[in-house]
Amino acid sequence: MELAKKLPWALPVFLLFCFAIDYGVEASHKLYTSLQSLSAVNVNQIHRTGFHFQSEKNWINGPMYYNGFYHLFYQYNPNGAVWGNIVWAHSISKDLINWKKLEPAIFPSKKFDKYGCWSGSATVLPGNKPIILYTGVVDENMTEVQNYAVPADYSDPYLRKWIKPDNNPLIVADLSVNSTAFRDPTTAWLGRDGNWKILVGSRRKHRGIAYLYTSRDFKIWVKTKHPLHSSAKTGNWECPDFFPVSLHGTNGLDASVMEENNIKHVLKVSLDRTRYDYYTLGTYYPEKDRYIPDKNMVDGLRGLRYDHGNFYASKSFFDPIKKRRILWAWSNESDTVGEDVEKGWAGIQADVEVTFSFHFLDKAEKYDSSWDEYDAQKLCSQKGSTVQGGVGPFGILTLASEDLKEYTPVFFRIFKAKFKHVVLMCSDASSSSLSEGLYKPSFAGFVDVDLTDKKLSLRTLIDHSVVESFGGGGKTCITSRVYPTLAMYENAHLHAFNNGTETIIIEKLDAWSINSPRIN
Ligand SMILES: *[C@@H]1O[C@H](CO)[C@@H](O)[C@H](O)[C@H]1NC(C)=O
Ligand SMILES: *[C@@H]1O[C@H](CO)[C@@H](O)[C@H](O)[C@H]1NC(C)=O
Ligand SMILES: *[C@@H]1O[C@H](CO)[C@@H](O)[C@H](O)[C@H]1NC(C)=O
Ligand SMILES: *[C@@H]1O[C@H](CO)[C@@H](O)[C@H](O)[C@H]1NC(C)=O
Repeated sequence: MELAKKLPWALPVFLLFCFAIDYGVEASHKLYTSLQSLSAVNVNQIHRTGFHFQSEKNWINGPMYYNGFYHLFYQYNPNGAVWGNIVWAHSISKDLINWKKLEPAIFPSKKFDKYGCWSGSATVLPGNKPIILYTGVVDENMTEVQNYAVPADYSDPYLRKWIKPDNNPLIVADLSVNSTAFRDPTTAWLGRDGNWKILVGSRRKHRGIAYLYTSRDFKIWVKTKHPLHSSAKTGNWECPDFFPVSLHGTNGLDASVMEENNIKHVLKVSLDRTRYDYYTLGTYYPEKDRYIPDKNMVDGLRGLRYDHGNFYASKSFFDPIKKRRILWAWSNESDTVGEDVEKGWAGIQADVEVTFSFHFLDKAEKYDSSWDEYDAQKLCSQKGSTVQGGVGPFGILTLASEDLKEYTPVFFRIFKAKFKHVVLMCSDASSSSLSEGLYKPSFAGFVDVDLTDKKLSLRTLIDHSVVESFGGGGKTCITSRVYPTLAMYENAHLHAFNNGTETIIIEKLDAWSINSPRIN
């Protein structure tokens, strides 16, 4: 409870927080016949997260709130022994922190989902009736259709049993649609015309597409003449998410809110090509069922990101109790460490918040005008925490071993561009572990923040193998997965550092330790 309250906003315009969810096995929308017949490998216990939700194995789905409980559905391969047995596992929580695991909600059993029950979303229909839309895989060629499931008993607050009615599938790809890239139906919203609407992610050649389907009764669905939106050279769009955000308040909004003068819409897509989530803010024209990103938005691979690190296939939902929109995402394991490091990680879960300040920016290094968002990661790998600068690099060293053989620095570096200062934020895993062969990227993003008051804040949640950071009050988020071998137990240290020539003052430093909640 406390933890949820403390998490900051991730985007300036709407209430949202970055929760990472962790998976034991690489998640992707591909059918690996060979893998399907293998047992999923157990997540190494030492890398198990404490307060970030983690399923025992495999990957994830759509969340919702119903009658006192938050429901989280996630993709799970219970034994890996049977071809195409990806199910929708199901956990519930009263506070989004402690979770109780239930029986799987949906599993392959019918012609319309024989080869897998893939991602989708929940919608709560009028009369407080939840319904799930999900992608079913119908053959070995990965032909995808959209199905639905409803609770067997609405009076069960846990919603343990779900029924997949015989009139499935609801939507099959017509000839204009690539049926092997046709998945992840969104939460439905209700138009003023009385029609329900959903998006389904797809591609045509290299163009990413969000197809729009409408329905009066949630049974018969018709594809609109034009997709809601599409963008050239972005490849397959997965897990689209489309929702309104308030222009004047900080509360989240239900997907069906349509007050043109008070809202903007966010369209988020997960690009299979880069394995990152991108979004634009723009205007939704309900009569035409078109979405037009705002002029200054970059629509594609150089676009805005929720998180610049290990973060993919996010899904949001509106929490009607606290009037907030909550975002979930995957943060995949990239560990290949064997059992030789089977130690405990107790006692290194922390939440650290630091406010840095400085008197002058004159020493800021020059910003090259040819750099853009895309270059942030390159800059961070070139100018790591050890490369001396003017204003910065300064920040914190997380999960640092005594001898500093292992450490994961999260830091800023301030540059001077022609008319303004540019803040680079890095979460650098390159020295995070002595283990060889791990994925240790130096993730990075620019922080769009006003430096007039000469202050910059950083908040970092350290949860075993997750280092999740919020720069400038959450304007830029970076999630890293790291697997130290030394920086464990009492040998996991936290330091603040400054490797620039300008003096940096720590105005405020708060650190909390976090208790382990019950997760499944
Ligand atoms: C899958 O694709 C192959 C090659 O195009 C085709 O021969 C086969 O009939 C397809 N299988 C199904 C179940 O459609
Ligand atoms: C259809 O989608 C699949 C999977 O993304 C892709 O391999 C194939 O090239 C696509 N076909 C066309 C015509 O775009
Ligand atoms: C997961 O980890 C691998 C490295 O092992 C990385 O290359 C990949 O892009 C990551 N992200 C996703 C969303 O799959
Ligand atoms: C700061 O720079 C020095 C010299 O390059 C280096 O030895 C030290 O490790 C750096 N500090 C951090 C935190 O990277």
